[in-house]
Amino acid sequence: MPTDQEYDYILEAGKIAGKARDFGKKLIKVDARVEEVTDQVENFIHEQEADMAFPAQISLNHVAAHYCAFKDDPLLFQKGDVVKLDVGVHVHGFIGDTATSVDLGGNEKLVEASREALNNALKMLKVGVTNGEVGKTIEKTIKGYGYVPVNNLSGHGLGRYKVHTSPSMPNFGSGDRFKIEDGMHFAIEPFASTGAGYVIEGHDAEIFAIEKWKPARSPITRNIMTEIKKYNDLPFCSRWLANKFGVPRTNFALREMLNQDIIRMYPPLSDKANGMVSQAEHSVFVDGEKIIVTTK
Ligand code: CO
Repeated sequence: MPTDQEYDYILEAGKIAGKARDFGKKLIKVDARVEEVTDQVENFIHEQEADMAFPAQISLNHVAAHYCAFKDDPLLFQKGDVVKLDVGVHVHGFIGDTATSVDLGGNEKLVEASREALNNALKMLKVGVTNGEVGKTIEKTIKGYGYVPVNNLSGHGLGRYKVHTSPSMPNFGSGDRFKIEDGMHFAIEPFASTGAGYVIEGHDAEIFAIEKWKPARSPITRNIMTEIKKYNDLPFCSRWLANKFGVPRTNFALREMLNQDIIRMYPPLSDKANGMVSQAEHSVFVDGEKIIVTTK
């Protein structure tokens, strides 16, 4: 159970994450640059005197998650894109995680499917309901729209300085029997797909996290690791480092840290059949019998 102070931090992180999501959503327009919008969302979070729980991520079309703009990324929003904006904020380590989708032409129903799945999941949430039952509602809603849920992505518990803790909150009727209980803090994030409903890892990861702290050989890498220390073992991205140290040094350090298993990478996740994917996400805290959506 969180203390009163910690509970305030949970609410504050959720509130700022929700505001940053809504702020970013308005910037997503045809011909806008993905990196520019990402930077603006992150600046917004800093202006609220909070910090990122993970880099802001904007994934397009068949990429369901974990696309993160790199420094000077030329990628532009185009007509017809399905855009997912995923935002994580922490206040003293307590996390708000939320996502929304924007349809830039022709995929309104797909965007509605994940949003409705999230709404229906939130409506049925109460103490004693199992995570498998929540997943079943998500699956049923998305299938009702004629799409499939992404089965190998799921919601997750939220810990202090930990973005993914147990239990997982499945997006299908998994049969899992973890009961929702007082004091739980977690995210629900349905993904709807027109394709396989199964994601696979792509290449060119821009998101990383510390695997194991140990000394690096080169001074460049050691210097960059001093910066990474400030991220409290939360995920970070190449863009943050490249903006401080330049692209060549950053790439050198990332390679060395990967080779030495100091960090691991999180590549973009794409629908296996190249289907279009939408996402919606809220964070929730269970306060007694009450379900508080912190990222509203
Ligand atoms: Co999440």
